[in-house]
Amino acid sequence: MSTDKFSTSRALQERLQRVVPGGAHTYAKGADQYPESIPGVMARGLGCHVWDVDGNEFIEYGMGLRSVTLGHAYAPVLAAVSESLALGNNFTRPSMLELECAERFLEIIDGADMVKFTKDGSTADTAALKLARAHTGRHHVAICSDQPFLSYDDWFISTTTMHGGIPERYLSESLRFTYNDASTLEALFQRHPGEIAAVFLEPARVAEPHATFLPEVQRLCREHGAVLVFDEMITGFRWHLGGAQKLYGVTPDLSTFGKALANGFALSALAGKREIMRLGSRERPEDSVFLLSTTHGAETPSLAASMRTMQVYRTEPVVEHLHRQGERLRKGLEQASARHGLERHFELFGRSCNLLFGTKGPDGKPSQPFRTLLLQEVMRRGVIMPSLVVSYSHTDQDIDRTVEIVDQALAVYARALNDGVDKHLIGRPTRTVFDRR
Ligand SMILES: Cc1ncc(COP(=O)(O)O)c(C=O)c1O
Repeated sequence: MSTDKFSTSRALQERLQRVVPGGAHTYAKGADQYPESIPGVMARGLGCHVWDVDGNEFIEYGMGLRSVTLGHAYAPVLAAVSESLALGNNFTRPSMLELECAERFLEIIDGADMVKFTKDGSTADTAALKLARAHTGRHHVAICSDQPFLSYDDWFISTTTMHGGIPERYLSESLRFTYNDASTLEALFQRHPGEIAAVFLEPARVAEPHATFLPEVQRLCREHGAVLVFDEMITGFRWHLGGAQKLYGVTPDLSTFGKALANGFALSALAGKREIMRLGSRERPEDSVFLLSTTHGAETPSLAASMRTMQVYRTEPVVEHLHRQGERLRKGLEQASARHGLERHFELFGRSCNLLFGTKGPDGKPSQPFRTLLLQEVMRRGVIMPSLVVSYSHTDQDIDRTVEIVDQALAVYARALNDGVDKHLIGRPTRTVFDRR
């Protein structure tokens, strides 16, 4: 009999590698992102707990790439989805839910006049760029260079190390500026007068915006006639119910949402000012933008999931819970890190509702082998933490148990700093999905 706790996962992972490029339908879920000794093909989830196909249980902090903010198999959302399924899920004309979901969304994101739903964040961002290009008659796009990912489409991926199959010319149209330094954006406008259609950024990611940064970005966009787009894929339904745009008091021309919008069901949104959005409306001769029009764009289960998710957010303290539990986790992990003298090697950063961690080796530089060792040690004890993202389902007990487990893993980390990571790490280190060019 096998003593390998992960033997079923291991066999399935090998089959996945054979038939799916990258071994998963999203690179960030692939085998090369996790320790070799702990393959993890998932069977089910409930709240913030997941079970792999071998029956191993984990508390998790990835939550479907940050999409599952309420919890896995969250009962009220499941009820709404099954009610909608019994009524059919895709029609020849728009359903009631298309209207109702749009109206509920616009009540929450109150700086937007219109919204169009689709399935992925990437698609919504690309549609925002298309609208901006049509609106301004320009081609270039200014992208915040400190933010790792906006879209898998060519205008963005051409700027990364995974640029195979994309003509070089795309790169010349995608310009980069620095977060919290509006002078770098101003320099782009000066170098490319009348050429920049859109400025794209996440309103916040790791660092908080300086008080003048977002207003200054908005002022520059207005002065130079570019469309300001906030990507709220992560900040939306996490920083504040009304999005980071509400929290920081800066309303962009367009903004995009996804992930938490439907608690992990496939729904994303492009929202914004009527003047720009209506270029996709077909009402006037100039409305010539073919804006987000796909067979599955408005299938009803995701809309039903989103409506119920938004209702939970409006009636329960979800955002407060995310911040509170994230803060509990941060405090516990900082204490654990200090107990092992690892303050300069295991670091936490980001807003408490969206914590990240960094791992550094003996030379004080970011280290993938040490990241892999930490993942290996926490996963074998029952925690998955590609990031440290909490959900509405993370209880005090879950957080405290996680702190205990990370504390034990950090003891191994501290030993590895002294006697070498290779002595403790089983298999190869993990890779990043990509770096920016
Ligand atoms: C900030 C941000 N924007 C856009 C995307 C793309 O979203 P999707 O994976 O739904 O296409 C992501 C995905 O991780 C993201 O983190």
